[in-house]
Amino acid sequence: MSAHPHATTVFLSASDVIRLVRQHGLPACIAGVAQRIERDFRRWPLFVKSARIASHSETGVIELMPIADASEFSFKYVNGHPGNTRSGLPTVMAFGVLADVATGAPRFLSELTLTTAIRTAAMSALAASRLARPGGTRMALIGNGAQSEFQALAFRDLAGVRELRLFDIDPRATAKLMSNLQGEGLVLRPCASAGEAVHGADIVTTVTADKACATILTPAMIEAGMHINAVGGDSPGKTELHPDVLRAAAVFVEFEPQSRIEGDLQQMPADFAVTEFWQVLAGAHPGRASAAQVTVFDSVGFALEDYSALTFLRDTALALGIGERIDLVGGVPDPKNLFGALRGPATNVAGSPRQASRPATPAALAREPLAG
Ligand SMILES: NC(=O)c1ccc[n+]([C@@H]2O[C@H](COP(=O)([O-])OP(=O)(O)OC[C@H]3O[C@@H](n4cnc5c(N)ncnc54)[C@H](O)[C@@H]3O)[C@@H](O)[C@H]2O)c1
Repeated sequence: MSAHPHATTVFLSASDVIRLVRQHGLPACIAGVAQRIERDFRRWPLFVKSARIASHSETGVIELMPIADASEFSFKYVNGHPGNTRSGLPTVMAFGVLADVATGAPRFLSELTLTTAIRTAAMSALAASRLARPGGTRMALIGNGAQSEFQALAFRDLAGVRELRLFDIDPRATAKLMSNLQGEGLVLRPCASAGEAVHGADIVTTVTADKACATILTPAMIEAGMHINAVGGDSPGKTELHPDVLRAAAVFVEFEPQSRIEGDLQQMPADFAVTEFWQVLAGAHPGRASAAQVTVFDSVGFALEDYSALTFLRDTALALGIGERIDLVGGVPDPKNLFGALRGPATNVAGSPRQASRPATPAALAREPLAG
């Protein structure tokens, strides 16, 4: 008897995702993920939602982010370790799974490190496209690390940004961003301070990493009508905005119970009013009330954005023939006889005898394509 075909899992490695993004194009990936997020946020009530489970340590946090609708379940594993770059590791690393709700079978397993940067940027720019004043073209980008170029390109494509005012406490980070974004149609202006970057900006994105309650933006820096996209305050004890900046603004969040624990919102009393952004997309809330109002998108990253990104990756990988089928949980010929699997010959995902050792070189993986 062969293994049940529905127990097989499609695997997308980090190099597969790089290949997918190169082939499909980064702007198309950002736009595609933004479309999925918008579509899924509009059906918000259909999802079983919870705040993520976080395991904190002195150096960072490791989180699990589950969500499900009636047919698909997803989770993301993600860390946040601001000191990692000193030892050659990224601050954020992630992978995720899509599973069938009907059977529990994991159908898709993918890297989500690069994908997290894409989905975070897509989410930020989607929010700004609805909340920022129309016609704004200047964005301050404070924190020029791993996420920053993705934010820049998403705001260029989805929110009309044409000029970036850049600041990072590490000038090498700004130099890296400027080198990476040469020729991308954006005017790049390095600034000597956060205040200089913010002055005259229509949109302000803060995407810094510091395991501390930092104050990147103070009330004195905020001008009428600004939209603030606060990305880096995403964990207890880790904030970027002075509480008075929130007090003077209309604040929008992803999933309120999670944002109250993790967002800049953690500094505010429990009755401080916020709006979940899905309500704006669904037409239940008007969003910005006036041209002079200051709006804040207090981003922390919600599981639904990763669900949207995973379904985008799965469908795009299938269309491009990228990835491979792996034997993650399948391969038991008789599901009631797990013990018996130890006795017979080892089988691969198709239920046929497996090679004694299975080479994992790129060439070997290419021989076992995803197609179909
Ligand atoms: N909200 C979300 O959905 C989401 C998703 C991904 C990452 N994040 C967060 O975004 C932040 C940035 O992530 P990353 O991967 O780019 O990290 P990174 O470490 O690659 O870059 C962070 C940059 O911030 C700079 N920085 C730190 N303190 C600063 C300050 N006071 N002023 C100006 N610059 C400062 C650092 O020098 C560094 O260049 C992290 O805090 C991460 O947890 C949030």
